[in-house]
Amino acid sequence: MGKKTIDWERLGSIIEERKKEKWGLIPLLQEVQEEFGYIPPEGIKPIAEALGLYPSQVQGVITFYAGFALEPKGKYVIRVCRGTACHVKGGRSIFRYLKRELGLEEGQTSEDYRFTLETVACLGACFLAPTMMINRTYYGKLSPPKVSSVLAQYGKERMEDK
Ligand code: FES
Repeated sequence: MGKKTIDWERLGSIIEERKKEKWGLIPLLQEVQEEFGYIPPEGIKPIAEALGLYPSQVQGVITFYAGFALEPKGKYVIRVCRGTACHVKGGRSIFRYLKRELGLEEGQTSEDYRFTLETVACLGACFLAPTMMINRTYYGKLSPPKVSSVLAQYGKERMEDK
């Protein structure tokens, strides 16, 4: 996978905006991750300097919170539930279908950085099983056709259209 280039100007302006806040580190990291899809490791030092912290402290927070990533992720992160409620309602076949449609294995990101495919223990919406989330949006009562139409909304061409 090619290396992403960082928009240093954009990173600088996020740091500039957030460094005035007293508890700015987490919101700053969230904003950087939202903008870039991950926390560029090269950004740790300038972030730490701006907030008067050690780089190791910033690194520690990134490592501690599972939501932060140091590797580039896709613009759309798909999280498929592998919890029991979803499992009994066919969650596994939904995951298999997604893997095939996207050509990705668990944890992988597409070459064009559009999609990352992950699984989670439970999305907390078991009554909608089987479920998945794309970024912050929930999708429930999934079936393969429903998954296809959701993916199409996110710019995924259907296999048969290719
Ligand atoms: S088991 Fe899937 S949302 Fe809870």
